[in-house]
Amino acid sequence: MDLPCRWLFRMLLLVAACSGILFALYSVGRRSQEPRAPARSITSPPPFFEPKAPNSGNTKSQLCRHSLSLAIEKDHHFRGLFDLSTPVLLWGSLFTQDLWNNLSQHKVPYGWQGLSHKAIISTLRLLNNPESAELFGASKPRSCIRCAVVGNGGILNGSRQGQKIDAHDYVFRLNGAVIKGYELDVGTKTSFYGFTVNTMKNSLISYSKLGFTSVPQGQDLRYIFIPSSIREYLMLRSAILGVPVPEGPDKGDRPHTYFGPETSASKFKLLHPDFIRYLTQRFLKSKLIDTQFGDMYMPTTGALMLLTAVHTCDQVSAYGFITSNYQKYSDHYFDREMKPVIFYANHDLPLEAALWRGLHNAGILWLFQR
Ligand SMILES: *[C@@H]1O[C@H](CO)[C@@H](O)[C@H](O)[C@H]1NC(C)=O
Ligand SMILES: *[C@@H]1O[C@H](CO)[C@@H](O)[C@H](O)[C@H]1NC(C)=O
Repeated sequence: MDLPCRWLFRMLLLVAACSGILFALYSVGRRSQEPRAPARSITSPPPFFEPKAPNSGNTKSQLCRHSLSLAIEKDHHFRGLFDLSTPVLLWGSLFTQDLWNNLSQHKVPYGWQGLSHKAIISTLRLLNNPESAELFGASKPRSCIRCAVVGNGGILNGSRQGQKIDAHDYVFRLNGAVIKGYELDVGTKTSFYGFTVNTMKNSLISYSKLGFTSVPQGQDLRYIFIPSSIREYLMLRSAILGVPVPEGPDKGDRPHTYFGPETSASKFKLLHPDFIRYLTQRFLKSKLIDTQFGDMYMPTTGALMLLTAVHTCDQVSAYGFITSNYQKYSDHYFDREMKPVIFYANHDLPLEAALWRGLHNAGILWLFQR
């Protein structure tokens, strides 16, 4: 789960306490409360693919027997929500005066209100190759793109899902994704690492003692920047230029210490703010938005990565995402001792849990549960 800035968290606690609002901010381990029950019954899941271990004879070239777009077509509710043609990534060619005008009307992470035109345009100019519009490059399988998205939930501890995860064409990870020591449970392959600069740096600070001492790196690995402030644009530009961050809270940071020596623009992808707004409005429209904390609300990094995969892959398996029995498990798979899941004020985990269950029951994704 994302860890907001400590001061922000304390401030929220304080404000919540002062205003007498019992927010969606509670330590679940100490209460018997269940998250809001999802509207849908979970008694009879439809037939669906279960990811196979690599030795099962499944080959990449096999046709998609259960493509998620077919499952969306068949589902009344989700058919009305999905727009698979919406651009997922932002890149240079999409930048126009019109886009600037539109996005300037929305605050981050859904827009550019108050952000520097110069910083944004100079970043997007570097993402000028059509490759920047695509998550998958030339290595893309022809017929069926199978993706695993690995959240950091405690359900993965002892799960022995590593082989199955690595058998997917692409593996998405995020934030404090510790691999060393957990290979049997979470696998080793990483195709995409998703983050905001805030969540990446907080993960390096908070989870370094638990083994997250560096961001995953590798030749075939791509980074997905989630724009949540000007920091992502500045870090992204500096990463491609191979220079220290020139200004802002990350001033002086050398991006290669996070992302390794390769600086090619194709290594870095940027989620489109319109995509984040579309996801939030259609799939994760939290009641928190209408409270005084509405400006803080954002889907979790895991939710954004999972929905990114659902909008770009043909089959998606979700590992380490919140399930209805989350109280049985620790917050993270890499925790050293049992730590209850914390529901931070800037996220809506019960809403996300209900969405994953709904998408699983509709056969649009496969959610790992135990
Ligand atoms: C800007 O907003 C208008 C009105 O909603 C829309 O028609 C247009 O397509 C948008 N342009 C861009 C580039 O997003
Ligand atoms: C992880 O799982 C093992 C058993 O497989 C258990 O003993 C341990 O307490 C678990 N760790 C956490 C943090 O829950």
